[in-house]
Amino acid sequence: MPVKILVINGPSLNMLGIREPEIYGNGTYAELEKCIRDFCREHGAECDIFQSNHEGDIIDKICASYKDADAIIINAGAYTHTSIAIMDAIRAVNIRAVEVHLSDISAREDFRKVSYVGMACEKCFSGRGFDSYTDALQYLICS
Ligand code: DQA
Repeated sequence: MPVKILVINGPSLNMLGIREPEIYGNGTYAELEKCIRDFCREHGAECDIFQSNHEGDIIDKICASYKDADAIIINAGAYTHTSIAIMDAIRAVNIRAVEVHLSDISAREDFRKVSYVGMACEKCFSGRGFDSYTDALQYLICS
């Protein structure tokens, strides 16, 4: 059975390509989705890609993945740094999870150095643009 990976993108990631391109690059959200889907297809994995600007919707999606997804990749956007609720939801479903970021959150403002979401994740891939996602997919598919 192919590994089933749920990819979650949080607030304002739908604005990729328009949003602060000097930080997040010129690639659009549709291009990011294509990059994830192509990588999964080439590596025999199944993916469900979800984006929301709403914390509760992200939590609902995580809860709905219980006993369904094999792994979660999450870029919670700004909720990364604030959401104990998303951290708790990932812990609640007890599915292995990996945190990703387009930018290098460790090299930006101090408030981005705290990641509540990361506290529920086994690894963080950050600072490599779209490659942060393919690095995370590679890691989950191969381990
Ligand atoms: C981000 C980094 C966050 O600090 C920021 O709030 C985002 C995007 C990233 O992918 O680099 O929305 O998660």
